[in-house]
Amino acid sequence: MSILKKLALAAGVSALLSSAAYADLSGKVIGFSQIGSESGWRAAETSVTKSEAEKLGIDLKFADAQQKQENQIKAIRGFIAQGVAAILVAPVVSTGWEEVLTEAKEANIPVILLDRGIDAPQDLYLTSVASDQVKEGHVAGDWLVKTVADKDCKVVELQGTVGSSPAINRKKGFEDALAGHANLSIIRSQTGDFTRAKGKEVMEGFLKAEDGGKGICAVYAHNDDMAVGAIQAIKDAGLKPGSDILVVSIDGVPDIFQAFVAGEANATVELTPNMAGPAFAALDAYLSAGTVPEKFIITESKLYTPADDAQGEYDRRKGLGY
Ligand code: AHR
Repeated sequence: MSILKKLALAAGVSALLSSAAYADLSGKVIGFSQIGSESGWRAAETSVTKSEAEKLGIDLKFADAQQKQENQIKAIRGFIAQGVAAILVAPVVSTGWEEVLTEAKEANIPVILLDRGIDAPQDLYLTSVASDQVKEGHVAGDWLVKTVADKDCKVVELQGTVGSSPAINRKKGFEDALAGHANLSIIRSQTGDFTRAKGKEVMEGFLKAEDGGKGICAVYAHNDDMAVGAIQAIKDAGLKPGSDILVVSIDGVPDIFQAFVAGEANATVELTPNMAGPAFAALDAYLSAGTVPEKFIITESKLYTPADDAQGEYDRRKGLGY
């Protein structure tokens, strides 16, 4: 057999293997309880999840909870009543899940958590696909510590949704990174609920309270959307974001790379919107071969700054549903 024929055969076999790898999910009904659409990152996660499901032939039942836990609980109960094969849930807050997840467990329906953690016994979910959110805050804080070096730096913080795991953990990681560096202090911290509008509004309040922003050296936002809102507030106050006030945040959405290009933001920690890919792979292995996945599947947390080909990173992301 010629080399070319052998290669063609090998390629055919591997194509067969890769589609066979997900054969068990094809045709399955899977429920997805999404938080809402508070940020560009969230929109991208929704669109990636839908397209991953479509590629695998999954019949995905999508429920948008509009930021309300009660809507998520209702949706999960609806999925249980329908007898879905599995449930994906991005939990808006970390507490209050035990009862409904126990119902799913009793109905023998595996639950996979996406992008946020919960305070509940671990046997109530099959696995959790998320970043290490404490690390994300730490990476952002380390960047700021290195960037300001010995300079005094007063920081304002825009927190995510109250009671959500990323708000709790990103706060902790950032504070840990600043600990022991007496020249840096967080002077104000308030929730901006992960939205652009709230980020702008809260930043306006910070600027007003701090003599028009003169004493503020940096803003740390728990997501890029709030950072983009803060950038607008800083500009409206007659200051230059990115130089008068440093801007560091988390997510890696296209708009923050655009702000890098404009010199208006300084660092972001990337969070992949593709939580569904690893989730479906784990679910498939579990349903087809009984393989129990790791309890926590941790995605990467990579720091980006304007030096990292900001225009190229923007171009790479802009068509991905953000
Ligand atoms: O849980 C992930 C966070 O939720 C993202 O960082 C933020 O943009 C989203 O709203």
